Amino acid sequence: MNLVFLGAPGAGKGTQATRVCEKYRIPHISTGDILRANIQAGTPLGVQAKSLIDRGMLVPDEVVVGLMRDRLAQADCAHGYLLDGFPRTLEQAHALAQFARIDLAIDIAVDPEMVVDRIAGRRMCRCGESYHISMHPSPICDKCGQQLYQRDDDKPETVKARLEVYREQTEPLIGFYREAGVLRTVNGAQEMDRVFADIVGVLDGQH
Ligand code: AP5
Ligand code: MG
Repeated sequence: MNLVFLGAPGAGKGTQATRVCEKYRIPHISTGDILRANIQAGTPLGVQAKSLIDRGMLVPDEVVVGLMRDRLAQADCAHGYLLDGFPRTLEQAHALAQFARIDLAIDIAVDPEMVVDRIAGRRMCRCGESYHISMHPSPICDKCGQQLYQRDDDKPETVKARLEVYREQTEPLIGFYREAGVLRTVNGAQEMDRVFADIVGVLDGQH
């Protein structure tokens, strides 16, 4: 099954995507993670992306669409995948529809106030794991033992810009996928296990 996760910054897309991909054995494809890996590696794409990401702005559509076209052509995507953070504009959604069939778009719905607090407390690991300080006060990753860090774009002023960009450019995708007949909504304000159970309910209901 080919899935898209929609939701504001901090809605829990990455958190839930990790669990869903483990359970259903499909690749977790996060444009944010791919861009951050490029920043880390100092590639030309990473250099271009860093200044935009640090200001809470989007990387140009043609750049991410090209990245995703290549990524979805790889062999591990043949039996389904989960897209986290893509598409993010109507242009990206239209472009994606040219080279992929999306079976379900799950909107993880949350209140904007709630995400500010979630993002402020988020700590990341280079291995891809993500934690919240309220649930995981230790600065060390449980999975691999590396030191956790805070994302550069998780500063309050950048979060504000990201939320505005979300409202203007990404929220309209909810209507796009509703019209396509593939939209499902789960309440992302619940605790993580509950959100996961609701997503599994949606996915298992499809078979
Ligand atoms: P990206 O990395 O995709 O960031 P985002 O969409 O802003 O989303 P986040 O990763 O901040 O939130 P999330 O929903 O994954 O939440 P998480 O699970 O971590 O993109 C970053 C940037 O890259 C963009 O701003 C843009 O510049 C660029 N970019 C990426 N894709 C692009 C595209 N397609 N086009 C153009 N540019 C693109 O959870 C957040 C925190 O809350 C964690 O601490 C977690 O532990 C906690 N939490 C999660 N769920 C719960 C819960 N149920 N209860 C309590 N706490 C919870
Ligand atoms: Mg994420």
